Amino acid sequence: MDAKQPAWFAAGFPHVWPPYSQMKTAAPPLAVERTEGVRIYLEDGRALIDGIASWWTACHGYNHPHIRQAVIRQLEIMPHVMFGGLAHAPALTLAARLAKLLPDDLTRVFFSDSGSVAVEVAMKMALQFWLNRGEHGRTKFVAFRDGYHGDTLGTMAVCDPGEGMHSLFSGLLPPQAMLNLPTDAASIATFDDYLDRNAGKIAGMLVEPLIQGAGGMIFHDPEVLRRLRAAADRHGLILIFDEIFTGFGRTGTMFACEAAGVVPDIVTLSKALTGGTMALAATVATGRIFDGFLSDDPGHALMHGPTFMANALACAAANASLDLFEREPRLRQVAEIEVGLREQLGPLAKVGGIKDVRVTGAVGVVQIDRLNDPKALQRACAEAGIWVRPFRDIVYLTPSFTIGADDLERLTGTLRKVLAA
Ligand SMILES: Cc1ncc(COP(=O)(O)O)c(C=O)c1O
Repeated sequence: MDAKQPAWFAAGFPHVWPPYSQMKTAAPPLAVERTEGVRIYLEDGRALIDGIASWWTACHGYNHPHIRQAVIRQLEIMPHVMFGGLAHAPALTLAARLAKLLPDDLTRVFFSDSGSVAVEVAMKMALQFWLNRGEHGRTKFVAFRDGYHGDTLGTMAVCDPGEGMHSLFSGLLPPQAMLNLPTDAASIATFDDYLDRNAGKIAGMLVEPLIQGAGGMIFHDPEVLRRLRAAADRHGLILIFDEIFTGFGRTGTMFACEAAGVVPDIVTLSKALTGGTMALAATVATGRIFDGFLSDDPGHALMHGPTFMANALACAAANASLDLFEREPRLRQVAEIEVGLREQLGPLAKVGGIKDVRVTGAVGVVQIDRLNDPKALQRACAEAGIWVRPFRDIVYLTPSFTIGADDLERLTGTLRKVLAA
């Protein structure tokens, strides 16, 4: 153990199981003392500009005083009460606000505590919607290559099977229809043909709108989403948009679906829902989906209810986060970040060994011809003062929307320098 590590690290690290790590070879994580604004302060005295806003959550930067005060106020009144048979103002207020913010009839909010569970709930809603109508043959989902929807068993089955993260499990998971996103003539023809032949077996279709995030930060045109909506309508399928990454301004509109003018039947939200302060997720369904569960048969109810569902502290944080979207110019800041990322990362496209540079909203992606050691690149970036998490062949920036122009330049400039070294 590094002599510079604090005592709590030395005592505790041998007892945690970190995420996505081969612990035989992984370097130990960096010990964090605190966060503030767009910076992570390490125990060894260094400060890193966070280029990825803690896995895309901290949209207002860290420790925003408005969220902090809302959580403290809620902590004094009631940190948590079970949601089964009881209701409270933070959750119901949040549900009403989300219903108002989301387009059209996305009006029924089911709260849970992580993105993966929100997707599980969406899948369960879609499957049971058909079962409740007596249609027992609709048991599969259409999902798309390069997609990512979570790490729980159900969601693993709709992630790209070969993308690496869950490939070990591929033989064990319930098989789904894994198609290429219909982006060109060939993939459109295959997609249409598959649905023409199999629609009766399909409960729903899942997609991350505009950006397939953890599967490689791959962008697609809003037209693709219109095509999915039209196909879902043609075949009567439930269309699920997983906006866990894209929701709350990341792609330039409050929700990515707005850019396409398309309304899904179910949308999943998490990540920036609480402004990056607490675990909370939501699965929001249209009235039509909700009505499909109304019945005199108790067996037609949605049997799901996480213990910490609608946690009052998390809902208070989410309400405060929505206040900030109303009071502060977040979408304008995203537009400014987009311009900055284009200007500042764009020149990398001409550098040897860089395959592609792409930007949409507050997401900047640099794709590298051969990124042999993403961890080494991460370490070099941290040594130079920025926190990023390269994976596969990309390094991406998804900073907090509150990042100032100077810090954005520091972030991109440092990345440029490290990539050129
Ligand atoms: C699009 C998408 N769906 C689902 C998830 C899973 O969310 P969680 O890690 O909170 O379970 C993620 C996480 O990165 C995601 O990006």
